[in-house]
Amino acid sequence: MKVLVIGSGGREHALVWKLGQSAKVDKIYCAPGNAGIAELAECVAIGAEKLDELLAFALEKEIDLTVVGPEVPLTLGIVDLFQSKGLKIFGPTKAAAEIEGSKAFSKDLMAKYNIPTAKYGTFTAVDEAKAYLAEVGIPCVVKADGLAAGKGVLICETQAEAEAAIEDILIDNKFGDAGCRVVVEEFLTGQEVSILAFADGKTVVPMVSAQDHKRIFDGDQGLNTGGMGAYSPAPIYTEEVNAIVVPQVLEATIAAMNEENRSFSGILYAGLMLTPTGPKVLEFNARFGDPETQAVLPRLETDLVDIMLAVVEGRLAEMDIVWKEEAAVTVVMASGGYPETSEKGQVITGIEEAAAKGTIVFHAGTKESDGKIVTNGGRVLAVSALGENIAAAIEKAYEGVKEISFANMQYRTDIGKKALM
Ligand code: AMP
Ligand code: GLY
Repeated sequence: MKVLVIGSGGREHALVWKLGQSAKVDKIYCAPGNAGIAELAECVAIGAEKLDELLAFALEKEIDLTVVGPEVPLTLGIVDLFQSKGLKIFGPTKAAAEIEGSKAFSKDLMAKYNIPTAKYGTFTAVDEAKAYLAEVGIPCVVKADGLAAGKGVLICETQAEAEAAIEDILIDNKFGDAGCRVVVEEFLTGQEVSILAFADGKTVVPMVSAQDHKRIFDGDQGLNTGGMGAYSPAPIYTEEVNAIVVPQVLEATIAAMNEENRSFSGILYAGLMLTPTGPKVLEFNARFGDPETQAVLPRLETDLVDIMLAVVEGRLAEMDIVWKEEAAVTVVMASGGYPETSEKGQVITGIEEAAAKGTIVFHAGTKESDGKIVTNGGRVLAVSALGENIAAAIEKAYEGVKEISFANMQYRTDIGKKALM
């Protein structure tokens, strides 16, 4: 089989790594890929949002399966486009990807079908949004409706902050078109957990649980990032919690999307808050998480190509998906200045030495320059390790991290610690 993976981050490196282990795969292309992916796949210089060029490439190379990493091509309708030409592609259609593309859509869906989530209102008028603050209370959360690369969520501790956030989004267009509407939401407390699930429009099968670390600094301090590390499993996600989440969130959402004629196929990612009154959905994504994927896929025993073909062909119910008992931890290494800015072009050393310690070094923002691997983005590497438990996986992952060096690198030293408390 010939497989095309779309995207260029650590998530896509993990996808290429796992797909490449399938005996069914003869050749993997990745558009556009990165320096690590280039060791396993042929990288082609087509951006993930260039739908027509990607289609032309897939037709020319007679690609048997395309796997979409990031959300933007999904919300632009890449799945609809490829399917219209008879190509197999893993991911939701444009109508189904709306569950990530519009927070107002996903909140309204949850309200209509009684899927547990924070109390909310959606507004296009500033006065109405501000008036709702009295109802929802302070602290609250103000969110831009559309895609904002994880930056469109503002936690507001005071009335003044909440009013400013509403104005930033609706009047000052801080998030562009993504902020034509705001969602104002009740503030939830608890621990967060990410549940990624395979779905084929009928059946939904959760993967092992994971927890992300969104803040830049140790102890969950500083700015939000795309994610500074992850571990799997999340011990707080118990069998009891799973017994609530599967029917009330995952199965309910797949059924709701069918009712709305937006059948969902691909990865349904539920970002959950485990509150004192039960699990509630913070957001849905329509794709694999980054860096959760770099912690979850190393634990997958089953052939990922078999699972993805079963999803695309609507046969997921037949699949027996097996996971390793071992735990996994992934530590993200980022450029100086991230998440506000990021340096590029710093030479990276120690990647092979880290791999020799038994870690898997997934590349995110890297490229090759004059025979050397250099930094090329905010998140640079994700160093993953398996261990008999989280503590062992933490130790191994950091043994790998210590081998790696580039100027002004930053990484958290407490990834996974929450799981040990
Ligand atoms: P989202 O993109 O909607 O998941 O929001 C990003 C982050 O903001 C989440 O991972 C949470 O840490 C936080 N967040 C979002 N919504 C809420 C909420 N209603 N209550 C508390 N924190 C929230
Ligand atoms: N790790 C958060 C995300 O992928 O959206």
